[in-house]
Amino acid sequence: MSLETEVRTQFLRRYHKEPLLITAPGRINLIGEHTDYNEGFVMPAAVDREIIFAIGANESDQFNCYSIDYDTAISFPLSELKAGNQWFNYLMGVVAGFKHRGLNLNGVDCVLGGNIPTGAGMSSSAALCSGFGFGLNKIFANNQSRLELARIGQQAEHEFAGVRCGIMDQYASLFGQKDSALLLDCRSLTHAYVPVNFPDVQIVLIDTKVKHTLASSAYNDRRAACEEGVAAFRKTNASIHSLRDIGMENLEMLRQGVSPDVYTKCRFVVEEIDRTQRAAGFLKSNNVKEFGQLMFKTHWGLSQAYEVSCAESDFLVKMAQEFPDDVLGARQMGGGFGGCIIHLIRSEGIEKYSLKVKEKYVATFKKEPDFYSIALKEGVHLN
Ligand code: GLA
Repeated sequence: MSLETEVRTQFLRRYHKEPLLITAPGRINLIGEHTDYNEGFVMPAAVDREIIFAIGANESDQFNCYSIDYDTAISFPLSELKAGNQWFNYLMGVVAGFKHRGLNLNGVDCVLGGNIPTGAGMSSSAALCSGFGFGLNKIFANNQSRLELARIGQQAEHEFAGVRCGIMDQYASLFGQKDSALLLDCRSLTHAYVPVNFPDVQIVLIDTKVKHTLASSAYNDRRAACEEGVAAFRKTNASIHSLRDIGMENLEMLRQGVSPDVYTKCRFVVEEIDRTQRAAGFLKSNNVKEFGQLMFKTHWGLSQAYEVSCAESDFLVKMAQEFPDDVLGARQMGGGFGGCIIHLIRSEGIEKYSLKVKEKYVATFKKEPDFYSIALKEGVHLN
């Protein structure tokens, strides 16, 4: 049975009416890590791993939601929205966003199910918020833009899950386009689509299966370090509002008035913003070789300067660099501390390389990595 059929069937069984069906994809990020909350550039894309929602109004103030994956049903009224890190807290966060904006809102029945691995850096939580928000927007005819829905999802992460994330994940899930990445400017919140068309090369994610429990506090710490840097640099130059305002030619300025640690973190961000713009040029000219080299640079920056990597991630990227005939680029993806390593692998070498990785990874870490071949897809949509 397809995921869509399963979700719809469960909904009919529980609520005896025809639902609205919505697909909300997860995302990858080709390059541009930890730049979104610094008003920089990112290059994400929506993918063929998704959450499907069946949803319908229920003429009450109750939200009744059933997750197939967790086999859990939850009911909450509009007046009882709580923070937490369970899947339904994100839905509560989205409801709160509608409520705070004074939008039309009432109870819904909802069934959801998906195939985005959780904790793998593919933004299953962003898909959860984007898809649910899209549903509430449609059902109660609120006419909110996709950008506003992305903001509602981001706010849900901040206020209900306690992660002060940027807007990349929600934006990518909502604005994705088939076979394209988005070059998203996180200052203007506008994007250009760039077709991803590397000949004979596949995007493959290798899941380290590492889920760092402290990842959200470390993420907030990194963001705080960037903000500390900006506050210090502003003292000498009031026109600086974010790390985006500091170019590669001014790297030395970053040393002023901050600790060596804050300097190193800010420097990584400034370099990564620059790298992402250069990478966009290589993507446009299909120069996969140079693009891949920048991915490796990003990884070692994330590992050594930004300090958000782990032994498993470093192992996979190091191994990728040892097989340049098979792998053109690789780096840890998302917030950090494990999750997936995004690889650009020559199509003909994928099988051979995957076997090699599996063998070495199992021998070293005593656990099996997962492999996902990825296709780029349209953002949140009605089925
Ligand atoms: C997480 C956040 C994003 C972004 C990345 C790092 O995925 O949700 O906003 O900051 O980490 O690039």
